[in-house]
Amino acid sequence: MRKILLLAFAALALWASQAVADPLKIGVVGAGNVGGTLGTLWAQAGHPVMFSSRHPEQLASLAKAAGPNARAGSVADAVAWADVLVLAVPYGAMPAISEQLKGKLQGKVVFSASNPFSGRDGEVGSQALAEGVAQADQRYLPGAALVRGFNAIGYGAMKSQAQRNVAIPTFADDARARQVGAQLVRDAGFVPVLVPLARANEGLPGGPLGGANSEAQLREKLGL
Ligand SMILES: NC(=O)c1ccc[n+]([C@@H]2O[C@H](COP(=O)([O-])OP(=O)(O)OC[C@H]3O[C@@H](n4cnc5c(N)ncnc54)[C@H](OP(=O)(O)O)[C@@H]3O)[C@@H](O)[C@H]2O)c1
Repeated sequence: MRKILLLAFAALALWASQAVADPLKIGVVGAGNVGGTLGTLWAQAGHPVMFSSRHPEQLASLAKAAGPNARAGSVADAVAWADVLVLAVPYGAMPAISEQLKGKLQGKVVFSASNPFSGRDGEVGSQALAEGVAQADQRYLPGAALVRGFNAIGYGAMKSQAQRNVAIPTFADDARARQVGAQLVRDAGFVPVLVPLARANEGLPGGPLGGANSEAQLREKLGL
């Protein structure tokens, strides 16, 4: 009995040591490679996470594997519940997401890892690339405090490079988006380098900021 109690206390101490100082309810919209990976990192860091997609019934095993801080729900559940939304969907889904989130984003921080490609995302992708991805995000997500990050690091590297001092360009203008964005990057195990939204296209795949950069390397590439 004493042994069981000691083990229970040890488990509690381990859990407490992993709890973040300022837990945020994170609603992940799009729980595939990227949303599943980042959501798991945040849940394991101590944030409550809800994974969502158009098929939440398929997300139970992901939520279970991410541990006790994670659950699955519909996109509507995630939006109603979350302090911060994380978008990890193919950019072609943005018009549908925009319609679904209409009127629900005023003042809410939205962190987007979603990227436009003209091949995969058709006209929606081409238009966002030409317009500027952050401009397009703001057109699709009116009222949201936008931050973009994790756009040019593969989901495999999100797992393998966490806690290795890899710097992530974190694009935001709004004060709360900058603060929450930096916290989420840090709590996933990376080093945030804040950059204005006007430069967000530089953070897209194939752009000049890709790869596993140290903070000094990234600042040099950015000319900061
Ligand atoms: N793969 C990478 O390494 C990587 C790295 C950085 C950034 N990105 C970018 O991150 C985004 C996601 O990439 P991924 O590789 O994670 O894609 P993925 O594995 O195909 O996952 C996409 C997720 O979005 C959901 N989804 C699609 N349409 C939706 C909608 N209208 N409403 C709600 N959920 C929707 C899908 O679930 P349902 O179909 O069930 O709804 C799925 O959970 C893309 O924009 C990609 O370019 C990818």
